[in-house]
Amino acid sequence: DFSKENSLISKYIFELRDVSIQKDSMRFRRNIERIGEIMSYEISKTLNYETVKVTTPLGEKEVYVPDNKIVLCSILRAGLPLHNGVLNYFDSVENAFISAYREHPNDDDDDFEVIVSYLASPSIEGKTLILVDPMLATGKTLENVLEALKNHGKPKQIHILSVIGAKPGIEYVEKIFPADTHLWIAAVDDSLDSRGYIIPGLGDAGDLAYG
Ligand code: PRP
Repeated sequence: DFSKENSLISKYIFELRDVSIQKDSMRFRRNIERIGEIMSYEISKTLNYETVKVTTPLGEKEVYVPDNKIVLCSILRAGLPLHNGVLNYFDSVENAFISAYREHPNDDDDDFEVIVSYLASPSIEGKTLILVDPMLATGKTLENVLEALKNHGKPKQIHILSVIGAKPGIEYVEKIFPADTHLWIAAVDDSLDSRGYIIPGLGDAGDLAYG
């Protein structure tokens, strides 16, 4: 939970949550993107590095570069600004896109299923998978995404990147994802309401970013 630390992330989270500031959709998208950038830097500290030789105009030196077998997968729609933020820092990763939406079979109750209807992904076999979605509410979306990605290989490790996560969803994801999964959540909220929305959360991130 980065929002408990003294860092700029707290200010960006404040602006994302605040009902008057979040109406500025360009600032909303950019704040999510900035959180993606900062968290990418944090994730980069945990990756595997290899030694390579660099040749400058004046000589040679051994330096470290991160393992570049990374697939960045974002969950549409709200994942897009976070995806851009990660891509600003991990500039040469492979990219995957997946759509997921909630469908309410009965109008008169709050039950919903998550439907995955679009998936474009390179092979993720043996690679590092970075899954980005700004909201982790019930965890059902991530569960369905994990299932849908199974046809594309088994990743070496998974990083899940989210802006706001609810404790029940975080616990659920920790239970169903493989052991080598790292969760990076900028701010953790305690609960969900009966419709599965994060309380206090920030509202509907997809609508706020894209209308
Ligand atoms: C939101 C959010 C996540 C999902 C989280 O997407 O971006 O994908 O809900 O909820 P869960 O953890 O309970 O599955 P939404 O369905 O609002 O779609 P959108 O991004 O296209 O608006």
